[in-house]
Amino acid sequence: MAGIFFIVQLPQKSKGISGFLSSGRIKQKEIGKLLFLLKSAGKMKNVISWILLLFLSILLLNNCFTSKVQKNIAQKTSFIARLRELYSSGDSSKWPVPLLDNEAEPYFSEIGHLPEVQFPEDNPYSVEKVFLGKTLFFDPRLSGSDQIACASCHDPELSWTDHRALSYGHDRQLGTRNAMTILNVAYTGSLFWEGRAKSLEEQTQMPIQDKKEMNGHIEIAAGKIAKIKGYEPLFERAFGNKTVTKERIAQAIATFERTVKSAPSKFDEFIDGKRDLYTDDEVMGLHLFRTKANCISCHNSGYFSNNRFENIGTSLLSSKEEDLGRYLVTKNPEDVGKFRVPSLREAARTGPWMHNGSMVTLSEIIQLYNKGNPEPYQNKSAIYNGIPLASHKSEILRLLDLTDEEVFQIEAFLGTLSTRPRRIIPPDLPH
Ligand code: HEC
Ligand code: HEC
Repeated sequence: MAGIFFIVQLPQKSKGISGFLSSGRIKQKEIGKLLFLLKSAGKMKNVISWILLLFLSILLLNNCFTSKVQKNIAQKTSFIARLRELYSSGDSSKWPVPLLDNEAEPYFSEIGHLPEVQFPEDNPYSVEKVFLGKTLFFDPRLSGSDQIACASCHDPELSWTDHRALSYGHDRQLGTRNAMTILNVAYTGSLFWEGRAKSLEEQTQMPIQDKKEMNGHIEIAAGKIAKIKGYEPLFERAFGNKTVTKERIAQAIATFERTVKSAPSKFDEFIDGKRDLYTDDEVMGLHLFRTKANCISCHNSGYFSNNRFENIGTSLLSSKEEDLGRYLVTKNPEDVGKFRVPSLREAARTGPWMHNGSMVTLSEIIQLYNKGNPEPYQNKSAIYNGIPLASHKSEILRLLDLTDEEVFQIEAFLGTLSTRPRRIIPPDLPH
């Protein structure tokens, strides 16, 4: 510290010292000492110049760097602002082109609003049928034990699912699949994770008869409902007379399910022109979803699913949790490990996710896709009923190279596809 002080003061002092020397009153030895001091002062001066130079360079570099960062930020902000303008223009033809795999192109339709629900000709909509269907959906008397209703696993207070990896059913037996929500079920092609039911009408009797679910029988269930006096006027209003049949039960429940539909989401409002509704992260998430992250190759249309069956490496062959998926329906070896592409509408509130409920956060799902959905080597093949089978993961999946920020942005975007839960009042059960 003292040295530095000395050198900083040097110009004046050195002048003083030379004057002092010239006075001739100082001895040789002392002059030597002084010269040594001056020399080292000179060296120190060098060191200081270097420090100063270094300091200036750092300052300069830092300046350059900050202006580059600022430029980058400015570019990014204007890029997002431009995306915001296009995506909220109300006209999807103005959107940036989606990055689609060739394989995905034939089944692509742009994301957007949910269309109107179509009711089949042989089971048209009526308010009365919906009311009857809703009542039956909440009625545990359809089950063998009179204890389990459809609503036990598809609970409106839990986004029409049960928020469990696997559902508990009759005698608290654990099932093997994750209960899907029935929200927007009208837009599916076929039902269940591997599409084993072709229509909602056909689907209804399956849980009733499933030993692990409602452990009943559709004929017996219909017989029980027929004996309940309070149901007579409901059937009469819905179908013209009070006859109870298993077909009518199925038709009424299916009609009710088709009305369980999402209200417009933040996404719907944003693309309709509410340009300030989205945060910058949500705008970027939407753009990544349609481009770099490639989600749109499978999760597309207003329903956010192309309703096809795809293998994303989740079948866990040769393990306790092995699920052959679509193969169980078609027996086509190409279909091993394929599951129906689920809708992403409301997905943020229907976890845990996947056919086996194995995923508990959305970010871990996005990270899985980011890594190209690696399948452990030992889970790629299996012997089933003596037939060797192999899992062929979709060619569409690949390493995505998303940054943590991009993963976060996609997750933020997925959140905008969900709507606020709505209170559903369970119907009074007839007696
Ligand atoms: C014990 C729990 C449980 C009960 C009770 C139950 N479900 Fe389910 N539900 C599930 C599970 C689990 C799945 C997925 C099963 C699969 O893919 O194999 C499912 C799937 C569905 C689907 C298919 C949705 C889609 O997107 O493909 C519909 C529709 C459905 N259930 C309606 C009903 C109806 C109607 C009832 C009453 C008659 C009912 N469920 C009773 C657990 C249950
Ligand atoms: C090759 C087609 C394909 C692509 C591409 C794809 N998915 Fe999926 N996605 C699926 C299938 C099939 C499932 C169901 C798999 C299962 O249940 O085992 C699924 C499941 C999901 C689920 C769980 C939904 C639920 O209800 O359980 C989420 C969330 C999801 N995908 C998000 C994404 C995101 C985000 C991307 C882009 C990073 C993406 N997907 C890309 C086919 C695809």
